[in-house]
Amino acid sequence: MSVTLLETNFQDVRLIKRGKVRDIYEIGNMFLIIATDRVSAFDVVLPTGIVGKGKTLTQISLFWFEKVKDIVDNHLITADVEKYPKSLASYKEILKDRSMLVKKAKVLPIEAIVRGYLSGSGWKEYKKSGTVCGIKLQSGLLESSKLSEPIFTPSTKAEEGHDINITFQDTINIIGKELAEQIRDISMKVYSTASDIAEKKGIIIADTKMEFGIYEDKLILIDELLTPDSSRFWSIKEYKVGKGQDSFDKQIVRDYLLTLNWDMTYPGPELPDDIAIKTSQRYEEILKIITG
Ligand SMILES: Nc1ncnc2c1ncn2[C@@H]1O[C@H](COP(=O)(O)OP(=O)(O)OP(=O)(O)O)[C@@H](O)[C@H]1O
Ligand SMILES: [Mg+2]
Repeated sequence: MSVTLLETNFQDVRLIKRGKVRDIYEIGNMFLIIATDRVSAFDVVLPTGIVGKGKTLTQISLFWFEKVKDIVDNHLITADVEKYPKSLASYKEILKDRSMLVKKAKVLPIEAIVRGYLSGSGWKEYKKSGTVCGIKLQSGLLESSKLSEPIFTPSTKAEEGHDINITFQDTINIIGKELAEQIRDISMKVYSTASDIAEKKGIIIADTKMEFGIYEDKLILIDELLTPDSSRFWSIKEYKVGKGQDSFDKQIVRDYLLTLNWDMTYPGPELPDDIAIKTSQRYEEILKIITG
């Protein structure tokens, strides 16, 4: 029986940050990024972990980094623990399959989101104003409608709390025109390339979020790529326009939490075993579909 990895506490390496999901250490001029089994919902990290989730996220990211490497460089140095520096030798078992050594990038404060379908906060905004991130869309679209073409809908990268959708002009104001345009064009290409690959496996990528950084004066992809935590994956077979779709992610967790009387602030509630197990299986399933 596997157990969850909720947190790492490596002694002789410098912890830089614990994100909601990842622990990040500094190893000389590199970062070691470890995807734990932590799960967050409504921006709160829950006390219960999801067995294997960190490994799933890491393996899916590695798959996509490889697939789109001709479109954009990424932060990966290696994910092979045998090639990690000696200082990490005693942690090999923990690090295997769930970590990457990466280039230390200057993180750009923008989340590059591409949407091919109308869902989530995009659907909410559209219902109110007929726009998504200020982009006017045709009228009469329904929840989960396919857009006539994918759109770039950036958001801010909030240090705490919820990210906020912004317009392309806002993006230019924050990072400059040249970078904004580069990020938009690359994100759109990554999305369409990944969508084609996923479609052949019976999966719709409804939307996805990418992060970029600057490394040696060049724009690179960082963080995770096209995982269930950063994207909405829908089954083509079960897709039906006009309603919300089941996605291959922590929706089971969200649905469960919504049955509770919880105010969505810390501390979050424990998850019952069956909910945690089902979620774990859902992540495992999408890993198999995508990389299998
Ligand atoms: N190559 C890199 N260089 C620098 N920072 C990186 C790199 N790759 C990822 N990061 C950062 O590491 C963190 C990953 O941790 P995690 O995904 O758990 O964070 P998060 O809770 O989503 O937090 P955040 O809101 O800061 O993204 C993110 O802040 C991400 O921007
Ligand atoms: Mg993240």
